[in-house]
Amino acid sequence: MHDTIKIKNISNNKSSLSIEWNDGEKSNFNFLWLRDNCPSDIHPTARERQFNLKDVSENIKPESFNLENNKKIKIKWSEGNHVSLYDIGWLRRHCYTINNNKEYVSPYKLWDKNLSQNFEKITAEYEEVMETEEGLIKWLEKLHHYGICIVKNTVTSKNSGFEILKRISHTRQTFFGTPFEVINIPNPNNQAYTAKGLFNHTDLPYFESAPGYQFLHCLVNDATGGNSSMVDAFKVADYFKKNDKEVFKTLVETSVKFTNNDYTQETIRIGHSPLINLNKDNDYNDIRFSVAQMGVLDCAPDVVEKFYKSYQKFAKLLHSKEYLVEFKLEKGDLFCFNNRRVVHGRTEFNPNSGHRHLQGYYIDRDEILGRMNYLKKMEL
Ligand SMILES: [Fe+2]
Repeated sequence: MHDTIKIKNISNNKSSLSIEWNDGEKSNFNFLWLRDNCPSDIHPTARERQFNLKDVSENIKPESFNLENNKKIKIKWSEGNHVSLYDIGWLRRHCYTINNNKEYVSPYKLWDKNLSQNFEKITAEYEEVMETEEGLIKWLEKLHHYGICIVKNTVTSKNSGFEILKRISHTRQTFFGTPFEVINIPNPNNQAYTAKGLFNHTDLPYFESAPGYQFLHCLVNDATGGNSSMVDAFKVADYFKKNDKEVFKTLVETSVKFTNNDYTQETIRIGHSPLINLNKDNDYNDIRFSVAQMGVLDCAPDVVEKFYKSYQKFAKLLHSKEYLVEFKLEKGDLFCFNNRRVVHGRTEFNPNSGHRHLQGYYIDRDEILGRMNYLKKMEL
């Protein structure tokens, strides 16, 4: 579209330039916005702004402006003896009037138990991810849209998860080490390191920024039991948004305490957050949920009962069969999921019946999105 886009008319509208485009759309570009975004002030290799708004007054305006070959707008500014040249395609792409009038489309494809019938939507092949850019993009897209992907047939030597994760970026370190070993051990410092079943949860909710994505690499899984479970907590949140607005409001507005007092560490970690967080578009940003790591509730007395009733309803649906997808990890599977969206758990396994060893890694969400944007050649 931007190759054929032309400007029909430009006028000075007191504090902005008004533009009429040849497809009938209209834009207003505020003078301070234009001056701040002058392309000549971007460092050529650092790709960062060097201009600082403090160096002009709030009354800066064009002394003159003109359209050059319907490709660039040239502005001579009233201050600083400065001339700016803007590519009209760039202006159109960044028009905040047009962009803010567009209807928001969520990138999230919400799912429930029926995803069990469509596993091909959330699987990828190791070789394709390792060998092709297309395979890598598909993996990242599944993670972004569904919040989950199982990479099949990976190499299963110890720490080999690093090889495939390097296709994305560096891992996120935590005090559990990288990778962390999900095995049954004596005196565990986390319930994951037992053979017991685990309620559905997000990991590390007591961190200010909980790890964005988790990767569980199945090296061996011969033991009886130990099925993995997952629920799309965005989908569950969406149920309340549509059907029980009071519960939704309470879960979005009540900040609650999560704690960790790991006996192998000399730290006490405390973090507060609502269970459901929204982004600037009122879409889901993240979920924090862990009955194990919820601290002693310290919110205001008039909120306690309302919160607890909402929390209980949320907990029930996060373990309900309507939303649950259960499966058994196979040797060579890399189970990847958005740790701030998908709650995960497992059924009990019998450690005397065989071996079960997963190695776990985290990668921040910034790395997943940043890599995907780069590979898909997103224009800034
Ligand atoms: Fe976990």
